[in-house]
Amino acid sequence: MKKILVTGGAGFIGGNFVKYMVNKYPKYHVFNLDTLTYAGDLTKHSDIEERENYSFIKADIADREVISEIFNNEKFDYVIHFAAESHVDRSIKEPEIFIKTNVLGTQVLLDAAKSINVKKFVHVSTDEVYGELDFDPDTFFTENTPLQPNSPYSASKASSDMIVRAYYETYNMPINITRCSNNYGPYHFPEKLIPLTISRVLNDEKVPVYGDGKNIRDWLHVEDHCSAIDLVLHEGELGEVYNVGGHNERTNLEVVKTIINALSKSNDLIEFVEDRLGHDKRYAIDPTKLEKLGWQPTYNFETGIEQTVNWYLNNENWWNNIIQGKYREYFAKQYQF
Ligand code: NAD
Ligand code: TYD
Repeated sequence: MKKILVTGGAGFIGGNFVKYMVNKYPKYHVFNLDTLTYAGDLTKHSDIEERENYSFIKADIADREVISEIFNNEKFDYVIHFAAESHVDRSIKEPEIFIKTNVLGTQVLLDAAKSINVKKFVHVSTDEVYGELDFDPDTFFTENTPLQPNSPYSASKASSDMIVRAYYETYNMPINITRCSNNYGPYHFPEKLIPLTISRVLNDEKVPVYGDGKNIRDWLHVEDHCSAIDLVLHEGELGEVYNVGGHNERTNLEVVKTIINALSKSNDLIEFVEDRLGHDKRYAIDPTKLEKLGWQPTYNFETGIEQTVNWYLNNENWWNNIIQGKYREYFAKQYQF
């Protein structure tokens, strides 16, 4: 039985990936390692927690002693590394934890993985490491676009990418790096644009749109991201970077209006607020390299949003628990309304 370590498996994308792997590969044992920050919760795994091929390990990836002990006890075959501080707005207010977790934590994991000769280390990164594009619709991020991160979050992810790359060049470690566009789907933490909009619209509360709402993101359903990582894990050429995206560019205003419309509410809920500092104009991925490896997304933006809105309608308990807790303090500090 192959042993797979998934870091950050209590979060949004890692959580979906853990479910995907436990269900798809009964012969793999999936270890979910997570320190359970504000963004991590295990209730999302109530359907798989009793499975024989699933285990949870509570640990901080930046704790070298603990991580090295865990790797000495379990000889993992593969590491899929999601654990990170992931929210740009939080990185603007408190950058330090992003450096500790995203940069140092990645290096600690690489050392531990190297010490037991893992067969593959997949580092899950982001298209935000490339910086921003202008509004010319014919320009895209490719794997050869120079890294030019603009936020403390994207700078910390770019730093970790560079370290992962260096471990390939220096130690010949079997790595891949994936750089994905904005994800959405079930279990997305309601600090990010799509789940924030859905939860607020459902409660008839104002939706904060930064600046003029014309910034563009390229949206990918989380299930399509999971299948991309599965493919890269099994078929990715060692040392290579793969961009993941599905050509679903929308302005933020279009995204918010689509959700309001799907929930039959009024656009009066939109509240334009002060712009984010250093707000990247546009992200757009060219996924040709991954498509050549055999990947195709199954959702487009319309089908994906419909599925996601329905999921939030059917799982109010999950997000209501979150927005009634510490999240209130965060929201008040971030938005002043
Ligand atoms: P998330 O914030 O929802 O989840 C992060 C998880 O990591 C949480 O469960 C948290 O508890 C855990 N974690 C944080 N610090 C840790 C530490 N020190 N030790 C162990 N666990 C820790 O994030 P997400 O949106 O699921 O993103 C997962 C990965 O995908 C990140 O690396 C992110 O950079 C990348 N990514 C995200 C997106 C997106 O749209 N959300 C897009 C591209 C790439
Ligand atoms: P977000 O979901 O935070 O993802 P990222 O910053 O990683 O792209 O934001 C997506 C877009 O939505 C981004 O352009 C910022 C914008 N945005 C708002 O307009 N209002 C909000 O309250 C949030 C959280 C984001």
